[in-house]
Amino acid sequence: MDHGCRRFDGRVALVLGGGSDGPAADGDDIAIGNGRAIALRLASEGAHVVVADRDLASAQATVDACEGEASAVELDLADPESCRTAAERILADRGAVDAVVANAAISGHDGLRTQTIEEWDLSTSVNVTGHWLVVQALLPSMLERSSGSFVFVGSTASVRSSGRSLSYEATKAAQLAVMRHIAVRYARGGIRSNAVVLGVIDSPMVRREFTADPAAARARDSVCPMRRQGTPHEAAAAAAFLASDDASYVNGHSLIVDGGVMAAWPSPPPVIPTPESP
Ligand SMILES: NC(=O)c1ccc[n+]([C@@H]2O[C@H](COP(=O)([O-])OP(=O)(O)OC[C@H]3O[C@@H](n4cnc5c(N)ncnc54)[C@H](O)[C@@H]3O)[C@@H](O)[C@H]2O)c1
Repeated sequence: MDHGCRRFDGRVALVLGGGSDGPAADGDDIAIGNGRAIALRLASEGAHVVVADRDLASAQATVDACEGEASAVELDLADPESCRTAAERILADRGAVDAVVANAAISGHDGLRTQTIEEWDLSTSVNVTGHWLVVQALLPSMLERSSGSFVFVGSTASVRSSGRSLSYEATKAAQLAVMRHIAVRYARGGIRSNAVVLGVIDSPMVRREFTADPAAARARDSVCPMRRQGTPHEAAAAAAFLASDDASYVNGHSLIVDGGVMAAWPSPPPVIPTPESP
């Protein structure tokens, strides 16, 4: 995986939720989710990638797939103590963390009438609280060095509702608020914070939630003006850009990576004339 650039040489990047729950796509040896693709991308660009996941074996599978340097750490975002101790251990082991990608999330299935408090609380812990607790633990060392970059993996559900999952939509929206707060409050300390806002990515998460059935996949393709889903590697390219010095004046930004879904009206778009048609 040679991308022709080494933007993270000598740097340490932490990917939260850098394993993958699977399933793998047909023909792939391992499941490539957004977090795993981001870890692979950052490692291929020279970073030492710390892959953190509640599932250590899954994090280790990512490490094994990385071309560059990487290490695995067990971290449960639903457990504040685990967030703090893992962050301290990473700092002790690696000396510093230059970039953090907040990728892990769980998706609920309930509308407001059936939403349970238990599932709401778990989604809040994993999708929002755990991420800012890790940031809180790492931020002082970044401020000391006047350098640090955060990338939150958001969703079109952060800014639009499909009417599907109250907890997912609410927590993904809150995640962007945390991203903006960090961007504004700590910018003078050399910190940048941004988000990728992902549309439908052909990923394990989507295959789990909406099935890998070819008809369902075609239906997902059809809502996008590009008439296809994105790939985790395309999500990773955008996340790597925001984490890198190429984005040195990009701060507090939500980069939409959705193939044009949010630009379309009506949405889903009608059959769009092909580029060749008059
Ligand atoms: N696939 C899409 O179409 C799509 C669209 C928009 C946004 N996203 C976002 O992408 C991100 C996840 O995508 P993915 O492809 O990497 O999913 P994935 O299922 O491949 O990986 C998620 C990883 O998060 C880990 N995780 C779950 N709960 C955790 C916890 N409590 N503590 C630590 N780790 C935990 C899992 O073990 C898993 O390894 C989420 O932020 C999601 O909102 C995906």
